[in-house]
Amino acid sequence: MANSCSQSTDNTRSYIRRHDLVPQYEYLSAEINEALKRVLGSGRYILADELRYFEEDFAKYIGCDYALGVASGTDALALALRVAGIQPGDEVITSTYAPTPTPAAILMAGGTPVFCDVEKDTCLMESGRIEELITEKTRFIMPVHIFGLPCNMDEITELAGRHELLVIEDAAQAHGSSIGEKKAGSFGTLSCFSFYPTKNLGGYGDGGMILTSDYSYRENLLQLRNYGKKDDPFTSYRQGINSRLDEVQAAVLRVKLKYLDKMNQERTRRADIYKKELENSPLVFLNTRPGHLESVYTNHHIFTVLCPGYRDELRTYLELQKIQTNIYYPTLLHQMPAYRPFVRENQSFETAEMLSKQALALPLYPELELEVVEYIIEKVLEFFAR
Ligand SMILES: Cc1ncc(COP(=O)(O)O)c(C=O)c1O
Repeated sequence: MANSCSQSTDNTRSYIRRHDLVPQYEYLSAEINEALKRVLGSGRYILADELRYFEEDFAKYIGCDYALGVASGTDALALALRVAGIQPGDEVITSTYAPTPTPAAILMAGGTPVFCDVEKDTCLMESGRIEELITEKTRFIMPVHIFGLPCNMDEITELAGRHELLVIEDAAQAHGSSIGEKKAGSFGTLSCFSFYPTKNLGGYGDGGMILTSDYSYRENLLQLRNYGKKDDPFTSYRQGINSRLDEVQAAVLRVKLKYLDKMNQERTRRADIYKKELENSPLVFLNTRPGHLESVYTNHHIFTVLCPGYRDELRTYLELQKIQTNIYYPTLLHQMPAYRPFVRENQSFETAEMLSKQALALPLYPELELEVVEYIIEKVLEFFAR
C-alpha cells in the first residue's frame, strides 16, 4: 500500500499524521472508481439499489435484521430516539466521555442528556454508576463504544431490562468490534453507526445507519427519514425529515465493507506492536483489565494511551519529531457551555476529568507503514530515556 509518510532518513521524513485517508483510497481505487462510475451513470442518486444492497450487507455483517441508511451518525441517533417514542424531557443516560454529536442528537430528538462518569481503565461509561442516575423521567440508556471499545453490554442490558429502559447503542466508532461472537451494534433495541470519513468504515462525505431487528421500527424509520412519506410521494403521513444515505456513499461503503475486517486486523497488528514494544514504558494502555474486556475485540478506531503527568510534554516532544498526536477529548461533555445546564447538582466526573488530562492518541490506521510505527515507538522511548 502506498504511504506518503515514509522516507529514508529522519531529516527528510515528512510529517506523520495521526491518520491519513488517501492511502486507503489508493489501495481500493479501482473498485471504488468502478462503483462511482456505475452510480453516476445510473441516473439514480437517492434511495435506490446501492443503498438497498448496502443496508442488506451491513445488517448481515452486524447481526441485525434491518439497517436503514441516513444522512449522518448524528441523524441516526436522533431518529432512533424518535422512532422509539422519545417525548419532550425524557432523560437519556449517556457518557460524558463522548464527542458532541451524542448529546446534540438527544437534544434534536427532544430529550434531555444525562451524563455518566467513566471507568478509569477504559474511558467507557461506568455501568455500575448508571443506576444512581435513573429517575422517573429516564427512558433510554445510550452507551457509547468509545475508541471502538465495546461497553459492558451484559450489565447495561440487564440494568435496562430491570428498569424498563430502552438501550440505543452509539456504535459510531465501533464498526467490527465485538463482545464474544456478538458485534457491537447488535445488543441494543436500536443501534447507530456513522460513516464519517475517518471512521473504520468511512465514506467520502457524511453518512450514518440505524440497525434494529424490530420490523415496526424499520417501517417507521423508512418514513421518518423521508418526510414521513409512504408509497405516495406527495403525502406525509407523519412528521419526518430528509435524512437519506445517498447512492454514491452507499456504493463506496459497499466496496469498503468487504475490506473492513482486513482493515481492522491491520489496525490490531499495529496496536499490538505499540503495546508489545512499549510494554515496559510508563505508558498505560486502556483495555487491559479482566472482566467483560476479556472477550472483547476492539476495532482500534482510535489508539489512545494514558500518560499520567507527562501527556502534554510527550505530545510536544512528538510534534517536534513531526509526529502528530491528538487528544480525545480535551473538553468533556459536562464541561461544555452547551451541555453544562444538564449536569445535576453534586454530580462529579472525577475519573473522566482525570483521564481527559492523560489521554493521547498515537497515529494508527490500517495503511500506516510498520517501519513508521517502529519510528514512533523509538521516539516515544527516546522521550522517556531523556
Ligand atoms: C461516538 C460518536 N457518536 C456520534 C457521531 C456522529 O456521527 P456523524 O459525524 O456521522 O454525525 C460520531 C462521529 O462523529 C461519534 O464518534
